[in-house]
Amino acid sequence: MQFDLKKYLKEKKRIIDKWLEEALPPENTYPEILHKAMRYTLFAGGKRIRPILMIASYDTVKRPSKYDEIIPFACGIEMIHAYSLIHDDLPIMDDDDFRRGKPTNHRVFGEAIALLAGDGLLTEAFSLMSRKHKKLSPTKALLSIQEIAKAAGISGMVGGQVVDFQSQGKKVDKKTIEYIHNSKTGALILASVRVGAIIGEGDKKALDALTKYGKAIGLCFQVMDDILDIEGEQEILGKDIGSDIEKEKATYPAVFGMESSKDKVKELLDEAITALDSFDKNAEPLREIARFIVKRSY
Ligand code: IPE
Ligand code: IPE
Ligand code: MG
Ligand code: MG
Ligand code: MG
Repeated sequence: MQFDLKKYLKEKKRIIDKWLEEALPPENTYPEILHKAMRYTLFAGGKRIRPILMIASYDTVKRPSKYDEIIPFACGIEMIHAYSLIHDDLPIMDDDDFRRGKPTNHRVFGEAIALLAGDGLLTEAFSLMSRKHKKLSPTKALLSIQEIAKAAGISGMVGGQVVDFQSQGKKVDKKTIEYIHNSKTGALILASVRVGAIIGEGDKKALDALTKYGKAIGLCFQVMDDILDIEGEQEILGKDIGSDIEKEKATYPAVFGMESSKDKVKELLDEAITALDSFDKNAEPLREIARFIVKRSY
């Protein structure tokens, strides 16, 4: 039977939304404004692609799967992602007004609360992931936390965001744009895939293959994000089009041109699919997610 990606994404998103709902304190927790602001962005309707990738990677190496052991990490990675969006949109950063089809966090709650809501999501993610686990060994939990911390931190997303910021209005070379994209976006996507495989107890060969896959789709995801910033439809994308050109951002199309960027996306998709050669049909969700990343309009 043909794999139905649309159904798969919808189902997994529903599960993750439920996990997230239970992972955070209720909205009326004191101070209410903080919890409202954290939830505003977390539940604004993202694709949940990072936790979905974690689940799909886990399912590739482990059957039958018991999702209990990955819940804190799937929620944690999405909370870190949501924090990064809130901070990324701030006037002092990308200064964007729309996210996920709604006014950005700072436009609703003000800059100070948006900043703190981001801090809250980031720290709460690590609190959640480092809680006593019922099902998971402390060693695997620690390995996963380390993986995610590295991806989100100075040698991953934070480092990438710094170079992204510094490169605004400048001509950058191939090495720099690759660093930016692999770090600010690729690292967290790669960590999602790797943590799924670590918790699912994939062997070294499986982890190496999934690492290749994760690297390729991580970079691919940001190149597509750059393309969509030019060619996407605002209504569907849920964020302002043309934001990168307006701010003279270092993007793939800006450095290599649109045609080469589209070629790059295809090349990376091939690389990702090839990396999964040694897996059977259990890897079908990962294959289809890679295809979705290059076809997506949102
Ligand atoms: C947007 O990420 C920011 C990037 C790192 C490119 P997504 O495209 O995954 O955003 P949501 O979560 O679906 O809103
Ligand atoms: C996002 O890059 C990187 C993050 C770590 C959030 P962009 O700045 O291109 O993401 P969008 O286009 O605002 O979602
Ligand atoms: Mg940015
Ligand atoms: Mg941005
Ligand atoms: Mg962008």
